[in-house]
Amino acid sequence: MDKASLVVLISGSGSNLQAIIDAVKNKQLNAEISAVISNQATAKGLDRAAGENITTHVIDHRQYPSRELFDTALMQTIDPLEPDLVILAGFMRILGDNFIAHYQHQLLNIHPSLLPKYKGLNTHRKALENSDKVHGASVHYVSNELDSGPVVIQAEVPVLATDTEDSLARRVLAEEHKIYPLAIKLHIEGRITFDNEHLQLDNQVLTKPLLWKNNQLI
Ligand code: GRF
Repeated sequence: MDKASLVVLISGSGSNLQAIIDAVKNKQLNAEISAVISNQATAKGLDRAAGENITTHVIDHRQYPSRELFDTALMQTIDPLEPDLVILAGFMRILGDNFIAHYQHQLLNIHPSLLPKYKGLNTHRKALENSDKVHGASVHYVSNELDSGPVVIQAEVPVLATDTEDSLARRVLAEEHKIYPLAIKLHIEGRITFDNEHLQLDNQVLTKPLLWKNNQLI
């Protein structure tokens, strides 16, 4: 089988990008990363990519007078690469409807909460403020609404009485690094299909997201 082509969009540290790079290197993913694109020239993830000889692009949103023109520049960079999947990995810009429609069913995001809980920012703080016993992360296909769209897999992380935002964020991030490659693998192996907006795994409707807990898929 041909290798799948992945394009990864980042804005910062790129630790999820690193997890994807590692999964490609250790052959968990039969894929190549065709490019890494950042809207921030200083994103540390760009160094991670360059260190692996992966093509990088900086498309700085501040250079574009509108969201539409920025999105168009992204699409013009992505499309010639003919990716099987466009992966948002800590990409901190909201994408417009045209962009999202253009990559419908081919655009994945990871969000540090158990969606639909805590869309947007400061998810770890919100989980602590609400005295949640369980927090986590979700990988989802992107739809027009922020942090919405069908969720493929979630990782649950217990909240400890001693947790701070930082300690909780660290443990959630460690699980993100496990579930993102898993979701990408299901996609590129063609095991995910869509029945309208319902996800199917191996032709069965997924009534709830797959769950990663205690280091295993259950
Ligand atoms: C992660 O917490 C991810 O869930 C969120 O942004 C963060 C990115 O971290 N969307 P990194 O750049 O992958 O280290």
